[in-house]
Amino acid sequence: MIFRLFNLLFLELILILPLSDSLIAISDKQRAPINPPLPYTTDQFKENANLQSSDIFTEAKQDPEAFWEKQANCLNWFHPWDQVLEWNPPDAKWFNGGKLNACYNCLDRHMQTETRNKIAIYWEGERGEKKSLTYEDLYIEVNKFSNVLKSLGVQKGDRVAIYLPMIPEAVVAILSCARIGAIHTVVFGGFSADSLANRILDAEAKLLITADGGFRKGKVVTLKEAADTAIEQCPCIKNTIVIKHTDLPVDMQLEKDHWYHDLMKEAPATCPPEEMDAEDTLFILYTSGTTGKPKGIIHTTGGYMVGATMTTRWVFDIKPSDIYWCTADIGWITGHTYVIYGPLSNGMTQLLYEGVFDWPERNRPWQLIEKYGVTILYTAPTAIRTFMKWGEEWINGCNISSLRLLGSVGEPINPEAWMWYYTIIGKKKCPIVDTWWQTETGSIMIAPIPGITPLKPGSATFPLPGINALILNDLGEPSSSGSLVLTSPWPSMLRGIYNDRARYEKSYWKQLGNGYYFTGDGAMKDDEGYFWLTGRIDDIIKVSGHRLSTAEIESALVDFKGVAEAAVIGVSDQIKGQAIVAFVVLKEDFIFDGSLESTLKQHVVKQISAIARPERIIFIYELPKTRSGKIMRRLLRDIAEGRLLGDTMTLTDPSVLEEIKNKYNED
Ligand code: PRX
Repeated sequence: MIFRLFNLLFLELILILPLSDSLIAISDKQRAPINPPLPYTTDQFKENANLQSSDIFTEAKQDPEAFWEKQANCLNWFHPWDQVLEWNPPDAKWFNGGKLNACYNCLDRHMQTETRNKIAIYWEGERGEKKSLTYEDLYIEVNKFSNVLKSLGVQKGDRVAIYLPMIPEAVVAILSCARIGAIHTVVFGGFSADSLANRILDAEAKLLITADGGFRKGKVVTLKEAADTAIEQCPCIKNTIVIKHTDLPVDMQLEKDHWYHDLMKEAPATCPPEEMDAEDTLFILYTSGTTGKPKGIIHTTGGYMVGATMTTRWVFDIKPSDIYWCTADIGWITGHTYVIYGPLSNGMTQLLYEGVFDWPERNRPWQLIEKYGVTILYTAPTAIRTFMKWGEEWINGCNISSLRLLGSVGEPINPEAWMWYYTIIGKKKCPIVDTWWQTETGSIMIAPIPGITPLKPGSATFPLPGINALILNDLGEPSSSGSLVLTSPWPSMLRGIYNDRARYEKSYWKQLGNGYYFTGDGAMKDDEGYFWLTGRIDDIIKVSGHRLSTAEIESALVDFKGVAEAAVIGVSDQIKGQAIVAFVVLKEDFIFDGSLESTLKQHVVKQISAIARPERIIFIYELPKTRSGKIMRRLLRDIAEGRLLGDTMTLTDPSVLEEIKNKYNED
């Protein structure tokens, strides 16, 4: 019954609700419901769960501020707050007057407990190199590196850019910034020199931390080289610290470049943590918006740390004996909240893996789980669908029975992938927590609490305690399908976009008014109140869980000399969720050459990153445009996904669609 309803609602969403020109429709095939028997959470799991009573939801509803105040006691504060919340939409201040340090909460406070000698990080490199660091080891390293940063003139409030592979030093770098009150801005190591430069310039970072290189699929990624190209354009960078990781020969400039290991030799052993205001910025993290320019999302110290710490406890049902593995890169928000701050503030042991899943063989993830006895696995639907495609034989040879909880993040998980994850990986004994959230929300917003919430394959279930969400229709009225909004402030919410107040207001708060936060996601609610996330309803696309803006890719394309115009869309893809398709109009005098498609793809990679490489580029004579010149991407999506074309009346020349359709189907 529920699934039938879900199907109906879903059809309604596709057919009736043109929420925006760019509504992303996930094909029925991808979302076809499966009807397995309930329950998915075993009695044994429930009996041992940390949270078993739904009273926590009632408590949060009755008095939200008292509830969050109680949760804030999960942290060590140097000075208590004067006020829990000051809310002048869209500006929130949480725990105002409170003083704390995020690094202190991740490390120092464990020095007084037995966590001191517990492993914080098991690290494994792609080639099988291993390191393990206890909380004390990490504490020692971070104290020293904090002094290194200070010795290079980094002060509280300065921005530090971090461009590193998944190595323990990345954790050290992040925590050291937090320790001295410097604002870190981590840039995913897969981003190009240009993308790195843009982020450094926007944040006006003073120092860059990078490595000679990283390993990926058996090859060396030349990070320092990209960093050098980037900082040629960035006069704000006064120093670069380079971690020796690959032994790749690199150019070291005498004045500006410093080896991490040289600086660490000289560094004093202790560095007191800076007392930060709850509302002091902890980090800026760039993410794609609907325009070409990435947004520097600002997160502050107190509220963010409360959100990160508590959601890690609630959603992952953590136990002291857990070995936790979140496969996200530290360059993304999931890496910030659920690799760094959430797990470390809770004193967890985690696995950090540098490489890709299929190196040297496709059984690598399962070997790692067996080797380290991983109990909690948190990964993305794209990875799950890829594992499905590779087949069970890669898993069967490994003992993965240590797993007790599975998580999913980054994009909607289709019920088939959910069931496969549950059955083949979880052996029907691990609940799955499908966690919906965003860079902007800082921590998980909608997800099951595994000991309490009955699961439905493909649904992120309900908002967490203290989080209030609604679905609104086109008229802004509460509805069972439409646009997802968060209706009340929460501690880990973004506090703004760096240097762009107007964009902050426009992107999130002015769309619907009422102090409602506009998520940009479509959602449905079934008759039991479960939330089903259906994908972005704006010009953001999710490719393998990576967030990209169509405008950003379009501007990379038109930057190429022969390109007059470009329109980029995301089309449904069985593995990646969405794949990038670009429609390109060339300048009339441009001489076409057979290798143009691959040259253009490479151009996008150089401008943004390999994650933004278009799957297909279709060369056409004209884009479908309205009389006012607006490109109708919705029609391009209809063509790409073989749907009946929507309203074409407003087009200047509807006949262009025929040409586009032919070209699209030609290849
Ligand atoms: O569209 C939603 C999707 O990812 C977007 C946020 O992307 P980003 O800021 O990169 O953060 C990703 C990691 C939190 C959301 O607007 N998304 C994330 N998790 C889910 C999801 N869509 C459906 N289900 C999820 N569990």
